[in-house]
Amino acid sequence: MCDQVFKLNNGKTIPAIGLGSWKSKPSEVYDAVITAIKSGYRHIDTAFVYGNEKEVGQAIKDCGVPRSELFITTKLWNTSHRPELVKPAFETSLANLQLDYLDLYLMHWPVSFQPSDVKQPRDADGHILLDDTDFTVTYAAMEELVGERLGSVGVSNFSIENFEKLSKTQKIPPAVNQIEVHPFLPQFELVKYCQDHNVLVTAYSPLGSSDSPLMKDQIIIEIAKKNNATPAQILISWGIKRGYAVIPKSVTPSRIISNLHHVKLDDQDLTTINKLIEGKEPHRLGDPYYSWQVDVFGLHKNDL
Ligand SMILES: NC(=O)c1ccc[n+]([C@@H]2O[C@H](COP(=O)([O-])OP(=O)(O)OC[C@H]3O[C@@H](n4cnc5c(N)ncnc54)[C@H](OP(=O)(O)O)[C@@H]3O)[C@@H](O)[C@H]2O)c1
Repeated sequence: MCDQVFKLNNGKTIPAIGLGSWKSKPSEVYDAVITAIKSGYRHIDTAFVYGNEKEVGQAIKDCGVPRSELFITTKLWNTSHRPELVKPAFETSLANLQLDYLDLYLMHWPVSFQPSDVKQPRDADGHILLDDTDFTVTYAAMEELVGERLGSVGVSNFSIENFEKLSKTQKIPPAVNQIEVHPFLPQFELVKYCQDHNVLVTAYSPLGSSDSPLMKDQIIIEIAKKNNATPAQILISWGIKRGYAVIPKSVTPSRIISNLHHVKLDDQDLTTINKLIEGKEPHRLGDPYYSWQVDVFGLHKNDL
């Protein structure tokens, strides 16, 4: 059991390690969530777009641990950004999850698609159908949900630029920014910005996602040996040592269980891992620019 929690800017707490569920098939995710909760996880991360909220919810219902002890996050998808669609989308997720309330509702991306039953609506040429709803308007509708049925509101895949823009209209500061972070994309500047502005980072793809080269990195392997831990435990511990929540995904029982046991890295290990990226280009696993032609992270200003 990992008892460590981080405090959010509204006084609530979030368990430091959560179970991720992207690409966890509906047939696998029920067992994964049951295994996780039985082995001590109290934080589960899902999203409408993962298509597995129903199975996650059934596992939460069947797990035998009171709802009040669990922290459940799901996310608003891009096709529901128009303000009038936000509450119905939230209600659909609650119904899928069979829950009366959510602990955290995140705007999945600062990108709005046209309303659609398909997750990525496209025209005949295959271009994504973008909508002109601004994310500040979507966020304002999300703020309205905070209360009995929603503990905290937050964002995901937000850059510093987006935070600066949102700060001009927000009534409730986002509690969380869920972003890709691992030693090949350490996000030093964005993590510091979030910490300075009291927004808790939650690291997605903390292990480097599927077929991760990080697990085979010689330095990570050496630090793992030194700490009598697995490479995955080192990657998770690095995030916690940096002061943010981490949501490794697995559907493999032995990995789910071992990922919960983080180690206390010393400062030398922290510095060594921080330096892994020195002299290399950051390696971002997920950039929707290539499929949506939207420059979410401001990395393609010269290409557009
Ligand atoms: N907000 C967003 O836009 C966003 C984007 C991406 C992800 N996320 C969230 O973040 C979660 C984590 O990210 P992720 O799924 O991309 O990647 P990840 O957690 O970094 O890596 C998952 C991969 O690592 C494997 N794995 C897990 N534990 C392991 C271990 N101890 N040893 C070796 N391999 C291990 C898993 O395989 P098995 O499952 O086969 O064990 C899976 O292939 C997601 O599931 C999702 O909840 C959010």
